[in-house]
Amino acid sequence: MVGVGPGDPELMTYKAIKVLEASPVWIAPKAKKNGSSSALHIAAGMVSMDGKEILELHFPMKKVRLNHNADPELVSSWKDAAQKVINHLESGIDVAFPTLGDPALYSTAFYLLAALREQCTSLKVTIVPGITAMAACSAKIGNPLGLGDDVVTIVPAAFDDERLRDILATFDAVVLMKVYKKMARVVELLDEMNLTDKAVLIERCGLPDQKIYTDVRAAVDKELHYFSTLLIRKKEVVL
Ligand SMILES: C[S@@+](CC[C@H](N)C(=O)[O-])C[C@H]1O[C@@H](n2cnc3c(N)ncnc32)[C@H](O)[C@@H]1O
Repeated sequence: MVGVGPGDPELMTYKAIKVLEASPVWIAPKAKKNGSSSALHIAAGMVSMDGKEILELHFPMKKVRLNHNADPELVSSWKDAAQKVINHLESGIDVAFPTLGDPALYSTAFYLLAALREQCTSLKVTIVPGITAMAACSAKIGNPLGLGDDVVTIVPAAFDDERLRDILATFDAVVLMKVYKKMARVVELLDEMNLTDKAVLIERCGLPDQKIYTDVRAAVDKELHYFSTLLIRKKEVVL
């Protein structure tokens, strides 16, 4: 499981590059059946794919609620991917799974890992952490994620209004992931809570077409890219 960072290949770690170089097979996730893998695209910006076997596997974008049964189509995509990994490993071939940002944060990597562990108990897995999108976004706008006694929370924007309202009221800083189709609703909530001026939206952070919305209302009627993260900080940094 190799975190490849949030888009700019130069944000890949040395370790990620080394592991990808050494792996003859890469299995990369893609969200759309006919689309391509963002993680693969990022990895290819730093490591040559010449001579490698590359498999892009489709993992449908469906909501997962932990401790509830996941959509059967999704479960079968995890199990099929695990089987493909195991087939290679049983032939003595190492497999790398490049994944966007860090594998530990809202990534398919850990579902795949669970499916792998279910099918094969003697598996040796290395997890290579990556730079998260929120770290890159925070760096880009020059504002910390958490400082002093801040309590920071990270939330997928698909939460319902009531839960989001509670979270926005409770925490000092909030990272909203996957906001691309939710901005109208989120800005309405921010307005209601007088937090609109505390929010910054970063779209395609670190990529040539990156956009930063310091006025998040301007993003409401835009067709935003999936790579969009909203950072909300209530407190200023004062000395
Ligand atoms: C499935 S999550 C993956 C998160 C990733 N594992 C990480 O460590 O950041 C996808 C979300 O990450 C955020 N994201 C990923 N790349 C981004 C980028 N270059 N700019 C802004 N947000 C990004 C967006 O919120 C997107 O909807």
